[in-house]
Amino acid sequence: MKTIGVVGAGLMGHGIAYLLAAAGHTVRIYDPSAEWRKSLPERLEVARALLDGEPALLTRISAHHQMAAAMKDVSFVFEAAPEKLPLKQEIFAELESVTAPTAILASNSSAIRSTEIGAKLKYRDRVIGTHFWNPPHLVPLVEVIQNDATSDDTVRKTIDLLRDAGREPVHVKKDIPGFVGNRLQHALKREAIALVAAGVCDAETIDTVVKSGFGARMAVLGPMEQSDLVGLDLTLDIQNVLIADLDNSIEPTAFLKDKIASGKLGMRTGEGFRRWTKESADAVRARLRNYLAAQAKAAKK
Ligand SMILES: NC(=O)c1ccc[n+]([C@@H]2O[C@H](COP(=O)([O-])OP(=O)(O)OC[C@H]3O[C@@H](n4cnc5c(N)ncnc54)[C@H](O)[C@@H]3O)[C@@H](O)[C@H]2O)c1
Repeated sequence: MKTIGVVGAGLMGHGIAYLLAAAGHTVRIYDPSAEWRKSLPERLEVARALLDGEPALLTRISAHHQMAAAMKDVSFVFEAAPEKLPLKQEIFAELESVTAPTAILASNSSAIRSTEIGAKLKYRDRVIGTHFWNPPHLVPLVEVIQNDATSDDTVRKTIDLLRDAGREPVHVKKDIPGFVGNRLQHALKREAIALVAAGVCDAETIDTVVKSGFGARMAVLGPMEQSDLVGLDLTLDIQNVLIADLDNSIEPTAFLKDKIASGKLGMRTGEGFRRWTKESADAVRARLRNYLAAQAKAAKK
């Protein structure tokens, strides 16, 4: 079992810490905010209760206000600080000065490439992207992104650690914006927004088509498997008819920008693509949390 550092005790950091402690590791979380450190035990307890984890596992997690003390003898660090390049570069520079040169330094950035985060470091072979999905202790996938400087050894050790912790790591071989998961997700969102903007259907219909249609089988049948299942010849026939008609905008549409300009940000403001009350928004959150927790518990059995 290893001693692992987590930078940032927020939404993602506390989930990553929980996951690694549940796998038996000792976890030290560094966060400069007293407020986030104070609320950490309660948030970890929520994760533990949801997954029926052993109460003792939380004793393996400690919170720290000084990076050097927290990170001095760790073999891995998962950075989950705010999504700002200068801040992440600063954190990685400090990590380089307080960790051993063999410690692996992983960023959980959603969009910033680890190439840029680690650009100014001396030992760049140990810098890697590990893109967890929210909540990291419930969603199995972690994209492990190798940049041009990342060594194969760093990739292997990172994948081994995550797999042993019960995640499903995938190796992304090029450090490109959006990695793989967000590119796929936003290709779908681009088309969904274009369909609603063009008046083809409303936002509720988009969600029903996905959840009750191809989405209903997606957890057990990916798009490449599905293409092979129906045959690539059929896939080509459909693409010949369809591809030219799909949305190909190269920037976010006015439809989305106008919503934001008029204060329609989603559940937070009561309206986004759809309308929400506090109760209906809470019901969606509970439905998602309970579904993911049931999947995570079933996977453990
Ligand atoms: N929220 C998501 O769904 C999601 C999913 C995947 C990846 N990510 C990425 O994970 C990272 C963290 O996102 P989050 O949603 O957990 O954010 P968050 O705001 O919940 O947490 C950020 C934490 O970083 C701490 N912090 C601020 N300055 C710091 C510093 N100098 N050093 C160390 N910690 C500092 C804050 O106090 C806070 O606890 C971001 O890069 C984000 O893009 C987020």
